[in-house]
Amino acid sequence: MAKIFATRELPGDALASLAETHDVHVFPEERAPSPEELRENLRDVDVLISMLCDQVDRQAIQRANRLKIIANYAVGTNNIDVDWATIKDIAVLHTPDVLTDCTADMAFALLLATARRLQEGGQLIRAQEWGEWQPDFMLGTRVSGKQLGIIGMGRIGLAVARRARAFSMRIVYHNRKPLAFGRSRELGATYVSLEELLQTSDFVSLHCPLTPQTHHLIDKNALEMMQPHAILINTSRGPVIDEAALVQALSENRLRAAGLDVFEEEPTVHPTLLTLKQVVLSPHLGSATRETRSEMATLLARGIEDTLRSRLPINILNPEVLPSLRKNLHSSS
Ligand code: DGY
Repeated sequence: MAKIFATRELPGDALASLAETHDVHVFPEERAPSPEELRENLRDVDVLISMLCDQVDRQAIQRANRLKIIANYAVGTNNIDVDWATIKDIAVLHTPDVLTDCTADMAFALLLATARRLQEGGQLIRAQEWGEWQPDFMLGTRVSGKQLGIIGMGRIGLAVARRARAFSMRIVYHNRKPLAFGRSRELGATYVSLEELLQTSDFVSLHCPLTPQTHHLIDKNALEMMQPHAILINTSRGPVIDEAALVQALSENRLRAAGLDVFEEEPTVHPTLLTLKQVVLSPHLGSATRETRSEMATLLARGIEDTLRSRLPINILNPEVLPSLRKNLHSSS
């Protein structure tokens, strides 16, 4: 029986099914644990189930002597010191695949909403400011036939490309590595440099992980390369964009609009973003559907069971720890 600490309740019955064979403890407050509370709760647990806003840094891992698995309820793992976990032979699990379609849907929803000014229109009706029909009233931007630049062509980037193709968009992308030829031909997607993507795209959508290399990838310089009619969409991680630089570009009409699901200092949002009509905001809802959130929990629970039973979990980030972890599990059983 393993001791499992989850920093939140999870949708679905994954925690209940883990509790049938393990000792599961859920942080009892309606808020995230503070860094001290997290460290305190980690002292004698085998498994941590963390959220994307829990900082599982070197300090937190250092004192967790029994910790064998960190199961992050997100696909992104920028909140975890994965290198240090690997040095300490701790398996890191996450939730790829199950959230791909819903996150791609959210990126596309933001793309359509910014292009067609949906949030602004709704607000206008609610403020009872809608007047007579006018030929030039609230004109937006046509989506079909336009160029979408995708930065980060992993699972979610690919799913966005498939949606864009159905909207007859031209697709260019930038990634660490170009796709295999067949794949890019099937999607009609062309690999270009980051500069070319920024300079030529009508829409730019971010799908890269947050790493030291992608922190503020979209900074003042990158924003200056974009066309004034371009629209920026972010469903990846807030710090990929320098929010202050984005606010400045939008305020000076050097960029037409932005659709943002993620922010630099969540849940705090740059105050000027709240006032800019051309910005569509959503509170980190990329994977937030009942089905996906429940599948994410099930995937983590399965990964935890597989790891504890010395099987290879499909959602492990650092499989190189498994041989030592297995010895460790064997000696402590
Ligand atoms: C993730 O899993 O990384 C998403 O941001 C959660 O919505």
